[in-house]
Amino acid sequence: MKLIYFFITTFAFAQAENQHTTLWNLFKNVHNKQYNNLQDEQYRFGIFKNNLALINQHNLETDLGLHSYTLKMNQFGDMTHEEFARTMLGGFKMPSDSSTKFVGRPFHPPSNVDIPAAIDWRQKGAVISVIENQQQCGSCWAFTATCALEGQHFLKTGELVRLSAQNLMDCSGKFGNQGCNGGLMDSSFQYIKVNKGIDTEASYPYEAQEGDCRFNRSNVGATDTGFVDLPQGNETALQIAIATVGPISVAIDASQSSFQFYSSGVYDEPNCSTTNIDHSFTLVGYDTYQGKQYYIAKNSWGDTWGNKGYVWMSRNKNNQCGIASTGSYPLV
Ligand SMILES: *[C@@H]1O[C@H](CO)[C@@H](O)[C@H](O)[C@H]1NC(C)=O
Ligand SMILES: *[C@@H]1O[C@H](CO)[C@@H](O)[C@H](O)[C@H]1NC(C)=O
Ligand SMILES: *[C@@H]1O[C@H](CO)[C@@H](O)[C@H](O)[C@H]1NC(C)=O
Repeated sequence: MKLIYFFITTFAFAQAENQHTTLWNLFKNVHNKQYNNLQDEQYRFGIFKNNLALINQHNLETDLGLHSYTLKMNQFGDMTHEEFARTMLGGFKMPSDSSTKFVGRPFHPPSNVDIPAAIDWRQKGAVISVIENQQQCGSCWAFTATCALEGQHFLKTGELVRLSAQNLMDCSGKFGNQGCNGGLMDSSFQYIKVNKGIDTEASYPYEAQEGDCRFNRSNVGATDTGFVDLPQGNETALQIAIATVGPISVAIDASQSSFQFYSSGVYDEPNCSTTNIDHSFTLVGYDTYQGKQYYIAKNSWGDTWGNKGYVWMSRNKNNQCGIASTGSYPLV
């Protein structure tokens, strides 16, 4: 009897391991993963299996009604959460030198404003359809700055022009930004104002590392005249701004392990902090799904992350993840 049990469990184990190996090979192919040696690959395979278990458990709990969102395997599947946080987060960073802290104009909402129940700036043509991919570089701040300015530039001129995050990475150091080591959208808006423009992405494409400044005035795609800081932690003001202004740059606490593998649904994470802000992206609208209010956020982790590159963040849930802690937008 014991022997039979031994054979059955060994067989079941071997079968599960087979399945894991198949998934692992698929994962490596899809995400173009290469490892230095067999030992390294075994180590990464182990992390992958842990992540797979975390994702499966979460999704079973979602089926049981315990979460309002699902997780999925993605390009971060061979990274521990600690590695993920070290490489992908921390791109939203306050400058160490306070002389490079720029303060925007205060937000003055229109009087007696009545905002719609839902809005999506993608449907109005104000959002570039490409999902940016910052790769392993803390440049989220540059991508949300370009995304917000692309929106304002479109709403003013009718032209949707993809702008160069690399221009910001290479040239806005004097404004406190630190390339792949982090920066701020406000410092970027300030740089663009002083510089009298930012180049197009087509003329100055992304390289995922900081280089020499190659700004070329002939290739300016947009300008700004400063920026507005939304009142801290005020979701009413944030929603009025999204509804009446356009796409808004924000930053959040993205440090929960659930965020690494977010797939779909309303991201609702009670452990999220409103003050430990480490990642920025752009809110391009808001809506409600199955009674849960959410913001539509465009991330810059490629289209294999999240819902085709987007995440629905909880709305009107006490500034969850600090969604309204640092909102701002450029003036054009
Ligand atoms: C700047 O851009 C223009 C137009 O693309 C090009 O003709 C010129 O050579 C560029 N200047 C430099 C210094 O690269
Ligand atoms: C939040 O912002 C709205 C719109 O600007 C304003 O009416 C309201 O007083 C603010 N709430 C707080 C608590 O400051
Ligand atoms: C939330 O935080 C508590 C206390 O730190 C911890 O016990 C719990 O596991 C966390 N929940 C999640 C989903 O991370």
